[in-house]
Amino acid sequence: MTTELSIIIPTYNEKDNIPILLHRIEALGMNDEIIVVDDNSNDGTAEVVQRLSSKYNNIHLIERPSKMGISSAVKDALGIASGKYALVMDGDLQHPPELIPKLLREIRKGKDIVVASRYMKGGKSEFGLHRKIVSKVATFFAHMSLQETEKISDPLSGFFIFRRNLIKPEDIQSQSYKVLLEVVVASHSMNISEISYRFNKRKYGKSKLGGKEFIRFIALVLKLSRYSTLKFLAVGLTGSIIQLGILDILYGNLHLVEYLALPIAIESSIISNFICNNFWTYKKRLSSGSAMKKFFHYNISSMLAFIINFSVATILTLTILSSNYLIADMAAIIASFGVNFMGSNTFVWHL
Ligand code: GDD
Ligand code: MN
Repeated sequence: MTTELSIIIPTYNEKDNIPILLHRIEALGMNDEIIVVDDNSNDGTAEVVQRLSSKYNNIHLIERPSKMGISSAVKDALGIASGKYALVMDGDLQHPPELIPKLLREIRKGKDIVVASRYMKGGKSEFGLHRKIVSKVATFFAHMSLQETEKISDPLSGFFIFRRNLIKPEDIQSQSYKVLLEVVVASHSMNISEISYRFNKRKYGKSKLGGKEFIRFIALVLKLSRYSTLKFLAVGLTGSIIQLGILDILYGNLHLVEYLALPIAIESSIISNFICNNFWTYKKRLSSGSAMKKFFHYNISSMLAFIINFSVATILTLTILSSNYLIADMAAIIASFGVNFMGSNTFVWHL
């Protein structure tokens, strides 16, 4: 009988957790194989797994020479996996194994990917306040930068199942922790669903996630989004320079009246931003309607941003930042940039 499910568990110093987890998975009595990828843990995790693999014949251990990250561990496991479906989970009991049959039932309905989510109704995360905030900010950043993730409430989940032939192991490239993002983007699939679960507290050992991982996460998201956020920012900056330059020529040199010079300068920057964003920033999203329609929508988005810019600057200078109009204006520019980015990303150049 061929294996239906390959359960992939990256481990680094989980000697107290991994035997409990493996026993609990075995108790589910499924037709599965379990691939543990250990990165030379110095607490004897690999030896514990080795011992259990002679008791249960469906446990495979990949031992690597040094700590190389969760994503590359999953990549290596996919290289030897044989199941129709692959499931990724942590080896520290924060992901309850009893959810595995539920994930399997859901994907058998014909889904490509099923995510165990902390953030949909019924889900819960036993994180401290600090990690909770970091996680929410990171989730927001992923949603904003990667449209493929917008229907997933927990795109940073480390607990998910997918049809194994959806991607090739080589599609997973990064050194980051966030394998799901890579699977979602590489597969181009929209056939994704979620199941809620409770992310438990860790009993033994500690998290291996540090500040370095957060930087890597940002680099991964920017790369997967083909740097569209940075390109949008660069286009916005050149647009501002164009606007100031034209205003200077029309108003400063040609002495055109201000109420004519300013709208012409603003519209010039909107036109140049639109052209750059349409053919560069969002080049891959050309399918989302005619250029005229997008241009019209981009004007609305830019006008809205302009109104926000103007109101925020006015309100701040009249109230809390009365003595510091430059900071007030900076805050206004950031707010309007955010509004224009969201508008452009979701309303003008949607996938
Ligand atoms: N092989 C290998 N190599 N395993 C690793 C490595 C590594 O470099 N780093 C961590 N692991 C293992 C851990 O031993 C654990 O089994 C699992 O990967 C998750 O690592 P944790 O260190 O426990 O991560 P966390 O609890 O802080 O982060 C979790 O939350 C994220 C959700 O925001 C993890 O569940 C992530 O997978 C999840 O995405
Ligand atoms: Mn953990």
